[in-house]
Amino acid sequence: MGKRIVVVGTQWGDEGKGKITDYLALDADVVVRSQGGNNAGHTINFNNQKFALHFIPSGVFNPQTKNIMANGMVIEPIALFREIDELASRGITNYQLYISDRAHCIMPYHLELDSLWEDIKGSSAVGTTKKGIGPAYADKASRIGIRLADLLDPESLMDGLKTGLAMTNPILECFHHQTYDLQDLYQKYLSFGKRLKPYITDTSVLLNAEIEKGSKILFEGAQGIMLCVEHGTYPYVTSSSPTAASVPMNCGISPMAITDVIGITKAYTTRVGSGSFPTEFEDDTAKYIREKGHEYGTTTGRPRRIGWLDTVALRHAKRVSGITELSVMLLDVLTGIPQIKICTQYELDGEIIDRVPSNYRQFSQCKPVYVTLPGWKENITNIHRFDELPINAQNYLKAIENYTGLPIAIFSIGPDRTQTIALKAFFK
Ligand code: GDP
Ligand code: IMO
Ligand code: MG
Repeated sequence: MGKRIVVVGTQWGDEGKGKITDYLALDADVVVRSQGGNNAGHTINFNNQKFALHFIPSGVFNPQTKNIMANGMVIEPIALFREIDELASRGITNYQLYISDRAHCIMPYHLELDSLWEDIKGSSAVGTTKKGIGPAYADKASRIGIRLADLLDPESLMDGLKTGLAMTNPILECFHHQTYDLQDLYQKYLSFGKRLKPYITDTSVLLNAEIEKGSKILFEGAQGIMLCVEHGTYPYVTSSSPTAASVPMNCGISPMAITDVIGITKAYTTRVGSGSFPTEFEDDTAKYIREKGHEYGTTTGRPRRIGWLDTVALRHAKRVSGITELSVMLLDVLTGIPQIKICTQYELDGEIIDRVPSNYRQFSQCKPVYVTLPGWKENITNIHRFDELPINAQNYLKAIENYTGLPIAIFSIGPDRTQTIALKAFFK
């Protein structure tokens, strides 16, 4: 039987999921994105080339791999076409892409509503990527969404648009925003359906057939557990669940299908958008990390906020997502920092706690309890084995294993595909 491995972000996104998915995809038959949309930005570096993928799974650089965008995703056709065209302009055309007929379409009014909701929230704005993600998932839950299957059927599209616009135009009008014309959208989205048609299929049927065949399957998470709408730092979260548990539902496969869950974590913490996190700090060391790690958003270019590694959050991620092993990324970025901190617990109102409070106000009052470890100065970007790491870097990784109770299966020492050190075989 081929393994079916889930790659999840354990923090607030941008942990390096794209890099690890691309690395593992070299041995995978299928790579699946199952939630989120182009709020994701997954960076892949190989052969001196850098790619940023937003919708398209990170298996597209291996022509043998089938790439699936499953039913749990929300998809904006214009941005997807742009991504396909950009890949083509760089010679990447030889890939297999399948898109679920049940995936929901991000409509232009979702983009508009995303900005409008943020404006209304003012100082409590989520700091979204403004890609229309929240409003698209809201329409899905309100049963007024348009699915990709609808773009292939003129009658369904017309019905969906009539309802969608009947609900949305009055809101836009009320806030003095431009409203949308039914006929105009109908013609546009019919033509988008024509371009998307070769990719659209029932991906649940496809994926179940692959499972039946014993294929090696990789599920590429987007965002991170701390941005999960169920288990993250609500309301400063995204609108889908990036947990491994969400994968079967978002793909139409059995919950028994998952064999392994790799939690991806940076060797420190970053966050973009609003919402506090206990280990955040801003000083010369934070600036050093931001510049050395190029910590600027792949999707929005915003500077990422920096903090020390938070193992309370990692244990939370492990618990709610059934993580079986870790991949520790960007270890090289910590080189040259004399003292490195790891958060082991939180202090809340004078009490030491070992959990992430559900109440956001309480969470934002949590103070990190740290242990401090000595750093290392040696360049680690060219090593090939764990025992080539300076002893302090080895001890840092061992401390992460100790505080999370998880084995480290991979560590990463640079952005390139070759700067990845796997401590075990994954698809064997
Ligand atoms: P994703 O959203 O989880 O796929 O992560 P992003 O691509 O948004 O952000 C991760 C960033 O870290 C990208 O710029 C990667 O090229 C970079 N990166 C990944 N692993 C390493 C590493 O080990 N060292 C360094 N220096 N950069 C890395
Ligand atoms: P990847 O897959 C980092 C954040 C946004 C914002 C919140 C809600 O690259 O790790 P949304 O547009 O989803 O409604 O924004 O979630 N966010 C991410 N942060 N990486 C991501 O994806 C993110 N996707 C959403 O910054 O705080
Ligand atoms: Mg990213």
